[in-house]
Amino acid sequence: MLIEAKGIKKYYKKVRAVDGIDLEIRQGEILGILGPNGAGKSTAISVISSLIRPDGGDVFFKGESILKNPAAIRRVMGIVPQEVALYPDLSAAENLKFFGKLYGLRGEKLKTRMQEVLDLLELNGRAKDAVKNYSGGMKRRVNIGAALLHHPEVLIMDEPTVGIDPQSRSHILDTVKALNQKGMTIIYTSHYMEEVEHLCDRIYVMDHGKVIASGTKEDLKNLMGGDDIVSLQTDKASEGFLKELRGSLKVKNADQKGNSITLMVQKDCDILSDIFEAASRNGVKLKSLDIKTPTLEDVFLYLTGRGLRD
Ligand SMILES: Nc1ncnc2c1ncn2[C@@H]1O[C@H](COP(=O)(O)OP(=O)(O)OP(=O)(O)O)[C@@H](O)[C@H]1O
Ligand SMILES: [Mg+2]
Repeated sequence: MLIEAKGIKKYYKKVRAVDGIDLEIRQGEILGILGPNGAGKSTAISVISSLIRPDGGDVFFKGESILKNPAAIRRVMGIVPQEVALYPDLSAAENLKFFGKLYGLRGEKLKTRMQEVLDLLELNGRAKDAVKNYSGGMKRRVNIGAALLHHPEVLIMDEPTVGIDPQSRSHILDTVKALNQKGMTIIYTSHYMEEVEHLCDRIYVMDHGKVIASGTKEDLKNLMGGDDIVSLQTDKASEGFLKELRGSLKVKNADQKGNSITLMVQKDCDILSDIFEAASRNGVKLKSLDIKTPTLEDVFLYLTGRGLRD
């Protein structure tokens, strides 16, 4: 195991930001930490990267305690913070130079790495403009560049795509994939389940400071029994129709909100004729019908009764 967090805790007075969690990060993977606002994602990665000291537990990097030897992990880790941390009056190139020097890069080596990072993030055209005149997406890219200068073995990215345009977002996601394909281990936090679903090999789902589920996408979806989700829009709310649906052996769960009904049904069963017949018997007209396999959003809803975004 490359990194192992064991029983880490971080409390702020009464807030249990991280409440005793175990995390394992394997060499070469993209690990996702998915959770809503306030779940404890940023706190957990701050503990892992030794930026804050936990109130309990420890993190082991290649088997060595980071409480005892924080320098070992700091040297090989790049951190992209949730808030953009750049000097607005400096250009992208000057910002990168500043961070490069912090990491101990000098002279030709610094120059080469700056150029490589500017190329990778497609920032060359505007490298000499002040960062304050950049779009949100460009600032985010410089922020990522700053964490890459020293060629980290592990890159930690804290919600790197919040509040940016779709083009920058897809460029950042492609960059993450490309870095990983070259061997970089990546820890990626997000509350966008589509991103985590697209990028990550394994996922930890966090809520209220705890890990509430973990595994591959398939593992997480199997928590829901591998069911399909059927959404129906009807012309009216009918108790008789709902009752018939609930009575079907193929239906595991049925919820009604106004004229919308959501069913969890056994995967690949033939439910459609049952729905049409029940609708006709109860004088209900179907306005729309949609069948899909669950997303991570549905898994989160299933586990917590809440959506990932408020
Ligand atoms: N320095 C701090 N002082 C007091 N409370 C804090 C501090 N940092 C975090 N918290 C609290 O700890 C909890 C977890 O916060 P954290 O920032 O780790 O969550 P998060 O999952 O990163 O959320 P977000 O998606 O909003 O970034 C929250 O209730 C937060 O208010
Ligand atoms: Mg956060």
